[in-house]
Amino acid sequence: MNLSALPCRTETPTTSNENKGETIMNLEEEARMLSTSSAPGTAPRTIAFASGKGGTGTSVLALNVAILLAKRGERVVILDGNFGLGNLNQLLGPSPRYDLRHVLAGERRLRDILLRGPHGLLIIPAGSGVAELANLDESGREMLLEQLEEIEQGVDFLLIDAGAGISDTVLNLIMASDETIVVTRQEPTALTNAYALMKVIVQHRPTYPFHLLINLVKNAAQAQLIYDSLAQILIKFLGYRPGYAGFVVGDANVRRSVMRQVPFVLEAPWSPAAKCLSAFVEKLAPRKKGLGIKSQSARPWWKRKLSWRPK
Ligand SMILES: Nc1ncnc2c1ncn2[C@@H]1O[C@H](COP(=O)(O)OP(=O)(O)OP(=O)(O)O)[C@@H](O)[C@H]1O
Ligand SMILES: [Mg+2]
Repeated sequence: MNLSALPCRTETPTTSNENKGETIMNLEEEARMLSTSSAPGTAPRTIAFASGKGGTGTSVLALNVAILLAKRGERVVILDGNFGLGNLNQLLGPSPRYDLRHVLAGERRLRDILLRGPHGLLIIPAGSGVAELANLDESGREMLLEQLEEIEQGVDFLLIDAGAGISDTVLNLIMASDETIVVTRQEPTALTNAYALMKVIVQHRPTYPFHLLINLVKNAAQAQLIYDSLAQILIKFLGYRPGYAGFVVGDANVRRSVMRQVPFVLEAPWSPAAKCLSAFVEKLAPRKKGLGIKSQSARPWWKRKLSWRPK
């Protein structure tokens, strides 16, 4: 990613009912079609969203990025890897009937619990506050990842809401992904924890691609200052420079959309936050092929997942 800040332009507000309140539904059939219509041997670009500290906006931004990509016609699956909280689906509406608990209990296949979000986005729900999902053992993870193989083929983007902290689960999700967007904000603990998270990974893989997405700022200048200060510390102590992914302004439309369980890029596409996120998505996956970073996985995500354990 290039290091320049992107301006978030605002446009005249328009009211859009497009996809508003679209219900999530079980998509067994569609998932089967997806898995069979895929081109063999192609792996999706896998991008994790993580933060050092909770409440920085990781889930809301990951979900809205997924929707923007899906709106462009990309086939997108988002995994709620935030196992302990399972809050992705809550951002979209009512809780699903089946979730990862049922998969881990062997009652459902992963493809059977997929939910459909706006524009054909597929969501793998984790379930809310389920203790056992926060502490998946090796066999549980293995089983889950094997089943991911069934749906992964034929998907352009697999986004993972890895959640906060530096638990084994979060670190494994990051290491298994092609790259990670670290969502952070101007708050000492958020910055310290983001540093700690990247440090653990970079010490094991010095070239791992992290990109910082600075949330809840007033403007580009403030975001750049926050990026610069965190990047300087990483450079000084680890010799590592993270990418600058961009920023999202603090915007009441985001808070409102979370309350209303309608993603802000759909409910308020004209909002400053939606403009920022569109700029970020354009940087992440430029419409004109050949621009920006396009890291193509050599191996499917599920095969890489368990290959690394933090020491
Ligand atoms: N750009 C923004 N402008 C205004 N409010 C925001 C913005 N980003 C996030 N928020 C607010 O922050 C809240 C927390 O966001 P979110 O649930 O995505 O955080 P999280 O990092 O996933 O937290 P958790 O650790 O609990 O999973 C949202 O409900 C929303 O109200
Ligand atoms: Mg979250």
